[in-house]
Amino acid sequence: MCGIVAYIGPKDATAFLLEGLQRLEYRGYDSAGIAVTGKTGGLKVCKTKGRVADLAAAVPARFKGATGIGHTRWATHGVPSDANAHPHLDNAERIAVVHNGIIENAEELRAKLSADGAVFRSETDTETLSHLIAAHLGEGTDLEDAVRSALKKVVGTYGIAVLDATQPDRIVVARNGSPIVLGLGEKEMFVASDVAALVRYTRQVVHLEDGELAVVKADGFRTFTEDARTVTRQPSTVDWEIDSYDTAGHEHYLHKEIHEQPASVERTLGGRLDERFSTAHLGGLNLDARELREIRRVKILGCGSAYYAGEMGAQLIEELARIPAHSEPASEFRYRNPVIEADTLYIAVSQSGETYDTLAAVQEIKRKGGRVLGVVNTVGSAIARECDGGIYLHAGPEISVASTKAFTSTVIAFALLALHFGRIHDLSPADGRRIVAGLKALPGQIREILAEEEKIAALAAEYAKHEGMMFIGRVRGFPVAREGAQKLKEISYVHAEAYPASELKHGPLALINPDLPTVALVPDDELLDKNLTTLGEIKARAGRVLAVAHREVDTKLADHTVVVPRSEPELDPLLLNIPLQLLAYYAAVALGRDVDKPRNLAKSVTVE
Ligand code: AGP
Repeated sequence: MCGIVAYIGPKDATAFLLEGLQRLEYRGYDSAGIAVTGKTGGLKVCKTKGRVADLAAAVPARFKGATGIGHTRWATHGVPSDANAHPHLDNAERIAVVHNGIIENAEELRAKLSADGAVFRSETDTETLSHLIAAHLGEGTDLEDAVRSALKKVVGTYGIAVLDATQPDRIVVARNGSPIVLGLGEKEMFVASDVAALVRYTRQVVHLEDGELAVVKADGFRTFTEDARTVTRQPSTVDWEIDSYDTAGHEHYLHKEIHEQPASVERTLGGRLDERFSTAHLGGLNLDARELREIRRVKILGCGSAYYAGEMGAQLIEELARIPAHSEPASEFRYRNPVIEADTLYIAVSQSGETYDTLAAVQEIKRKGGRVLGVVNTVGSAIARECDGGIYLHAGPEISVASTKAFTSTVIAFALLALHFGRIHDLSPADGRRIVAGLKALPGQIREILAEEEKIAALAAEYAKHEGMMFIGRVRGFPVAREGAQKLKEISYVHAEAYPASELKHGPLALINPDLPTVALVPDDELLDKNLTTLGEIKARAGRVLAVAHREVDTKLADHTVVVPRSEPELDPLLLNIPLQLLAYYAAVALGRDVDKPRNLAKSVTVE
């Protein structure tokens, strides 16, 4: 939810810190700061409310150092302000700390440290760490020992990087619930909370595990546990291209990610379709056919768009495998003392693999003996590691706060799972073949929809003039409506409400008037007549309608229509969703919004 970077080596740390922070800004963007120290010690700190660009403008020309740490923030404790921006210091301005996560016993620590003379200059939980570490630094104490001892008194989640003005040859980092990655260079080392900040400098990385610390020096690093036991961590190679982290000529990451979908869908499907047996191969499930047959129910958990993708997944599993399936917000599930059943398969969905509510739900299920699969984009992320098996999306890095390509790939992963499940149960070979062919056709069909971009952009500019919009769909179409409404409000700030089309007349029809247009999902399926009746009811109340429909549908009741190619009925939701991504994008552009970094949000929600 916030971003951390650090550098130690022969070069000027400031340049890397600012560039790295700019790359991590999508994780939090209400304030930013850096601290550096030179070979002779002494700390220089610069921090400011606002974006990384504001920080870069505020950094004085002679702000240089060979060792440094930096942070971009998404506020949890205290408003966005210069004082609350990281790094945070101790009284003597010797220790500087940047932190992602939440210190749960911060109030208790603050009271004790204040009583011992610590003077707090911010409202943050993080500042307790700088004072606490300073309190453990005796004469000649190594920074790593002080950090290790201090963290024993901390309850909560953290990824931290710590600088000591008197030990400029090292940075100490620690991880507990919030990622920390070390980047290995030639006589230089990098640290970040996300590889996105590192890939321009090195592909060799080491991911810290929870409960681990590292002392990082220019010529290497040492990892150890909180009880000072040395652990050996082998570097791995980041396999995404540098281009994956750039806008590659697009005006926004969101635009790029929407347009990447034909390729990202191909990657999600890659090597997983079995045409001979009309099924799917999913190597990472760690469940054999017999174990899968014993599953009586599927419960899908995720937050926000991941939850809506899970709703589409549940529909696919019920239709293709005839196993009862249901999606629930992970954030609600974990607080209601859920009954965990041995014959239920739990599936956690997350693009980032870091969402705290989803991770906590997985941990709760596992604590009660349940079996959890992950549908995750980020390889090696906390949720992926916590699950018993699962499906990686291979959608590529998703930088824009609004999820698009990962959403689509999640639904594809569920289609594969449903096909696999279905063919173990009663899905006929003919139906299996139909789904396999439908999946293979999707990339081309998405390209066809993207070719309608100009038309959708013009419609978006017109519809964005309204204060709100209604999104409706029936059964398979309802999760599409929910995701469409979510995307619109998230990036354009236009109020949007999603309803099952069947429910409109039970209340929200009262809202319909010429100023509240409706986006209606109208596939040419078995519910077409019902959907057309609903459109008639809206038109009778002078409501405007933008229909997203198949070519075969007579949409004379709609004011405007966006046509999508037809797939198999079970897969149609995937295609119906694509125009809604473009609609939200162009509505946000027309309204001059900060498309990739919408207000109040951040890409990964790593706090409760
Ligand atoms: C999607 O557009 C949103 N930004 C948000 O709802 C997101 O899907 C949610 O926070 C879950 O994130 P995750 O997939 O990384 O767990």
